[in-house]
Amino acid sequence: MSSKRQILVTNALPYANAALHLGHILEYTQTDVWVRFHRMRGHECYYVSADDAHGTAIMLKADEKGISAEQHIADMRAIHEADFRDFLISVDNYHSTHSEENRQLSELIYNRLNENGHIAKRDITQAFDPEKNLFLADRYIKGTCPKCKAEDQYGDNCEVCGATYAPTDLINPVSAISGATPIEKQSTHYFFKLPEFTHFLQDWTRSGTLQPEVANKLGEWLDSGLQEWDISRDAPYFGFEIPNAPGKYFYVWLDAPIGYMAAFKHLCDQQNIDFDHYWREDSPAELYHFIGKDIVNFHALFWPAMLVSANYRRPTKVCVHGFVTVNGKKMSKSRGTFINARCYLDHLSPEYLRYYYASKLSGSVEDIDLNLEDFVQKVNSDLVGKVVNIASRCAKFVADGNNGQLSASIENPQLWQQVTGAAASIAEHYENRDYSKAIREIMAQADAANEYIAAKEPWKLNKIEGKQQQVQDICSLGINLFRVLLGYLKPVLPVMADAGEAFLNDSLDWDALQQPLLEHKINAFKPLMQRIEKDKVDAMVEASKQEAAQAAAKPLQGPLADEPIADEINFDDFIKVDLRVAQIVKASHVEGAEKLLQLTLDIGGETRNVFSGIKSSYQPEALEGRLTVMVANLAPRKMRFGVSEGMVLAAGDGQGIYLLEPDSGAQPGQRVT
Ligand code: 2FM
Ligand code: ZN
Repeated sequence: MSSKRQILVTNALPYANAALHLGHILEYTQTDVWVRFHRMRGHECYYVSADDAHGTAIMLKADEKGISAEQHIADMRAIHEADFRDFLISVDNYHSTHSEENRQLSELIYNRLNENGHIAKRDITQAFDPEKNLFLADRYIKGTCPKCKAEDQYGDNCEVCGATYAPTDLINPVSAISGATPIEKQSTHYFFKLPEFTHFLQDWTRSGTLQPEVANKLGEWLDSGLQEWDISRDAPYFGFEIPNAPGKYFYVWLDAPIGYMAAFKHLCDQQNIDFDHYWREDSPAELYHFIGKDIVNFHALFWPAMLVSANYRRPTKVCVHGFVTVNGKKMSKSRGTFINARCYLDHLSPEYLRYYYASKLSGSVEDIDLNLEDFVQKVNSDLVGKVVNIASRCAKFVADGNNGQLSASIENPQLWQQVTGAAASIAEHYENRDYSKAIREIMAQADAANEYIAAKEPWKLNKIEGKQQQVQDICSLGINLFRVLLGYLKPVLPVMADAGEAFLNDSLDWDALQQPLLEHKINAFKPLMQRIEKDKVDAMVEASKQEAAQAAAKPLQGPLADEPIADEINFDDFIKVDLRVAQIVKASHVEGAEKLLQLTLDIGGETRNVFSGIKSSYQPEALEGRLTVMVANLAPRKMRFGVSEGMVLAAGDGQGIYLLEPDSGAQPGQRVT
């Protein structure tokens, strides 16, 4: 093997405001395969990622849920981590951009840019929501298209006629957040002087760091002239405050890529790794960012320029992939092809998709089509029909005829040479992220192995007196070929490789694949992969449709009868919920909260502070003195406005909220069953 490389790999950091879908999983699979391949080759390869936790969208989402942004991002992070774990993504650390490491590094880098004269400061005029007291990005303004007069068009382009315009050109513009008419307001913003890095970027983008098609696109932008980049946002904003600029926050895209460093720093602190060795200007280590084609400007212009100014090393490569389409079209909620990661996992094994994606990925920025019929067909025919089939055809002869002991020699050295000889070119394809070529070669070798076994017909020979040794030699070679093929597939199929290792009684290391297992005892064979059943794929599509329909219906929830009844629980489950009669002793508005009231509840000698999303239906003074029912043993929840110590019960639909009230005579603190 070539000398040991030191490699740090990152993925685009998913926003902490939505579930992961199969598009995210494409990128993480592409990256994970690359990382596992390099680890298998014996290199030092660290893989970090994080949730991208800042920005207006996340702040608004937390508001909508009536919880603090911190609580919201903690909830999302747990969901994302579970999804990645279950897709077998082997990150060494999954962190958050809302972390102390990221705050420190963002401040440090910003201070260096500032000291180097790369920060400008000037006033700009922007749309402002006078009700929410919030500056509005283009996507938060909607109105009538000035060209075709289509209503409800967002920001700066019309989805109906395709016209582009300034948000100020919209007829009757309104804030998409509050419905108020935006006003224009001035404020001071901070800018990163990107144009000063034009020459550096012209060289860097052409130095082998990018795929040629990506470098060409950037070349067009560079030729048309770079603009200074607005890196500040005004309060209220969920993010980090800019040093010496009260009320000004780093724009989410400033601290997001710094989040790569922060996630790694966190890992370094835990595992005693030398952070500077990987990030210093002249670092010998390699740095790879895997991203989608929509965020190239951030990674191949702003980010390397910031790194130059802040005196850190630049990425070795930015590896750009295309989008996922399903059945040849953009993922669609109504067709059930906008498939969330969890919905997939509820129906199918992660390795099926990992294999299918690998078989399609080419290292270019082309989109990848997940054709659901082809998916079923390819996985069943390649993995079950070709690879696993080799082992299942041979294992029982070795087990029965020689007590699981493989033969002492290779029956067909030429075939063995051919299959093991493919290692170098398969490795090169993995290195270049051209996994589809790697998979094609592996399957070609699997075909050769199957043809060999089919031609030798050990099941016939086994019935002939005196041919038993030959049967052992053929099947031992079959098992050895299976081992090599499974080794080649190990970066893509880690669980199947684990099961194969248990069967082979061997660990599948890349270099060791060249040496056959001779006179080696293997274990009992168990099927290593089940066929995909088409019904499961159909069920997943149906579930995706329903998920999308439910999400769309949420803001206008109908009466309970319209919602499916939740899964059945037993009495023990029910009795765990401690419901108590509560008297509302105080109710008040919560400064800055759109939907919440703050309630002080008496539950019989004990008082609780509860934030409840009932503001749209109740005046606080009308609530004081009323009895209601609360969940008294709900874990306290940290919200933006304080800690909520329980929940009051209310019915709700799109029109109103109806607080539950016991009949007169009930006493605060009484248990409700
Ligand atoms: O486009 C996105 O989903 C961003 N959250 C990606 C950030 S990548 C990095 F810069 F942090
Ligand atoms: Zn229009």
